[in-house]
Amino acid sequence: MNAVTPTDYLPEKVSPLRHDAPGVVTSMPSPTKLHHIHIFSDTRYEEMVEYYKVMFNAEVIRVNPYGLTFMSFDDHDHRIVLIKREGADEKPKNAIGVSHTAFCYASLGELVYVYRTMTDAGYEGPAYCVNHGNSTAFYYRDPDGNQVELMMDNFTTLETQDYKRHYQWSEEFGQMSEGEFDPAKMADLYESGVPDTVLIDREEVRRLRREGKL
Ligand SMILES: [Fe+2]
Repeated sequence: MNAVTPTDYLPEKVSPLRHDAPGVVTSMPSPTKLHHIHIFSDTRYEEMVEYYKVMFNAEVIRVNPYGLTFMSFDDHDHRIVLIKREGADEKPKNAIGVSHTAFCYASLGELVYVYRTMTDAGYEGPAYCVNHGNSTAFYYRDPDGNQVELMMDNFTTLETQDYKRHYQWSEEFGQMSEGEFDPAKMADLYESGVPDTVLIDREEVRRLRREGKL
């Protein structure tokens, strides 16, 4: 029997999901999706790989000899790429550039599960958690200090857009910090059976916070 070789995984031909004949694209397109995050790391490289593996329940698809680790958490070939960049400078605090990456989850239950998994694994919990009104967000820091937001929308997508467009930064909305919450208390309340309709409602979050319960 012949051994399997890398070329056995080379498809016979390319197969684009869609072909647009010349002239068919007549207006400026927008991306179909955000595809991947590309991160330089050095002295904490292995910790970084492990962190993202745990946080995203990700699979390492490929490690190449040049110090690249490609990870995926869905059907794409890479979603996170970690690049070993020996001798690279630490990012200065308050630097211009991307401030955080944000990943959307399907439910509060998932966000709480991730929180429990990360803290049980010995990682620091989120540095900051807030109900933005339109979303519920947990802000973590990876071993290199990059901020990673894990969040969910609190309404349907269209309602969320309207909320952002018209309400979120209005006088009636108040201060963003009013939606802050403690992740451990959030996890406890969720696990004790308090419904999502309460726990992701900004007004309820503010009330629970005032009462010292969140
Ligand atoms: Fe964000």
